[in-house]
Amino acid sequence: MRIDIITVLPEMIEGFFNCSIMSRAQKKGIAEIHIHNLRDYAYDRYRKVDDYPFGGCAGMVMKIEPIDRCISALKAERDYDEVIFTTPDGEQFNQKMANTLSLSQNLIILCGHFKGIDYRIREHFITKEISIGDYVLTGGELAAAVIADSIVRIIPGVISDEQSALSDSFQDNLLAPPVYTRPAEYNGWKVPDVLLSGHEAKIREWEFQQSLERTQRLRPDLLNEK
Ligand code: ADE
Repeated sequence: MRIDIITVLPEMIEGFFNCSIMSRAQKKGIAEIHIHNLRDYAYDRYRKVDDYPFGGCAGMVMKIEPIDRCISALKAERDYDEVIFTTPDGEQFNQKMANTLSLSQNLIILCGHFKGIDYRIREHFITKEISIGDYVLTGGELAAAVIADSIVRIIPGVISDEQSALSDSFQDNLLAPPVYTRPAEYNGWKVPDVLLSGHEAKIREWEFQQSLERTQRLRPDLLNEK
């Protein structure tokens, strides 16, 4: 899979994709992440990517030309499954969306900034608008990193123990059960006996009951989702 991220702040996310599992996914050749500086597509002397809004309201708006040039240059090279725009007024991101997007070959993620982007970009280029939650960030870069991370990590081969991606919270509308490691007792705090029993069926049943109880208590809304 290839993900092209378009941003005015490449330095904000470059380090993120050079770390840990995201870096390994790229070294293994499973994912290609390309980060494009939008200013490279602004041809005026000041490499200007924003301008005052028509109508006189406050804030700056991302200009249409650099974004058109960048997206058009990418689309001339290959087909894209989606052109995503990160924005607080987009569709709320969730695991189901990550699962679907992880089947893509090529994705563009355009990071929003300033007051917003010229609406014609949303009308003519963007195929999917995504919010990562009901709060406003200073820009869409963190949202793009969140989206790309959650998509890439579930591509087979990225996480060595594939089962561990499949048993995440949210994969089956249940929160994950508690996990423990050695020592079996610390300061008198004990790991549940069943996990030390070696009885596979009982352990799976205990995990399921724990998941169910935690979901009912912490996220009952998930149990009503399809
Ligand atoms: N840009 C600013 N806030 C955002 C959010 N909550 N989700 C996606 N993009 C954003």
